[in-house]
Amino acid sequence: MKAKILELLKNTDHYISGQKLCEHLGVSRTAVWKIINQLKEEGYIIDSINNKGYKIISCPDILSESEIKSSLSLINTDKLNKIIYLDETDSTNTRAKLEAEQGAPDWTLVIAGRQTGGKGRRGRGFTSPAGVGIFMTLILKPEFLPTKASMLTLISGMAVCQGIREKTNLKAMIKWPNDIVVNGKKICGILTEMSSEMEAINYIITGIGINVNNEQFPSDIADKATSIKLETQKTFRRSDIIASVIKHFRNYYDTFLKTVDLSLLKEEYNSLMINTGKKVFVVQGNKSYEAVAKSIDNDGELIIEKDGQISRVISGEVSVRGVYGYV
Ligand code: BTN
Repeated sequence: MKAKILELLKNTDHYISGQKLCEHLGVSRTAVWKIINQLKEEGYIIDSINNKGYKIISCPDILSESEIKSSLSLINTDKLNKIIYLDETDSTNTRAKLEAEQGAPDWTLVIAGRQTGGKGRRGRGFTSPAGVGIFMTLILKPEFLPTKASMLTLISGMAVCQGIREKTNLKAMIKWPNDIVVNGKKICGILTEMSSEMEAINYIITGIGINVNNEQFPSDIADKATSIKLETQKTFRRSDIIASVIKHFRNYYDTFLKTVDLSLLKEEYNSLMINTGKKVFVVQGNKSYEAVAKSIDNDGELIIEKDGQISRVISGEVSVRGVYGYV
């Protein structure tokens, strides 16, 4: 009910009477009054005027189940079957796996305010401090073949890129296959994991970590990590960015499902990819070599040119970095 009241207040630019809220929700005036007070305590500035009602003046950047649900109510969420919000967890990917195994439906979104053991690719960690970042994992249970799953990282990358662009105007770009960068520094990492049989997927989880209002980073990553706040000098509401990323993901995923490949998306992907036309180091196990990144193909593989020869590299097997640094 709190989410519903928040949703009604957020979606109206005039005062809503207590009576109207009661009728709409089928609860008593005291119940509405109590929730309004809780919202005020959480940091929402709500004006209340006798005989006029309530009007929301400003919303802080907080994450809670009601905040997330009220922000998601502004987009098309027909596909989203379940939202799990936790103030703290070890890793939303680990929690999502558990939920998926215990029967969570397709399109379950797990979000945490903080991770104590955020996971990155190749066994690395992901810095996940409280109150400033987005840590979320989407559980999908699709019908397509396991070989197609890695493309979800690329779709998530496009969704994050457009979500950040839409909400902040920053020129976010994708560093193939799983980082989003702004001004040459990493602002988001994506970790997709899967449980499958030979021919069928049990579930895919795609975990997204976005640095939103971080003001600093641990010294070992400070030179290559950034946040939306560091790039704009402004604080952003994480729930708005989550909603925008989910909106874009839904659209891209629908397009992907038409062909179960990236043929309809690759042109846009290539225009968002920072590596396009750049010299990169392709790192494969303990081997690395220099090549020029050309574009992605229909399966999300990176087409590279090395000594005049064209070849393809697969996202799960290699990573690329710029010849002169991170990008
Ligand atoms: C990387 O940069 O190597 C990938 C980082 C992925 C981080 C996200 S945060 C939400 C989800 N939960 C995790 O433990 N990891 C992913």
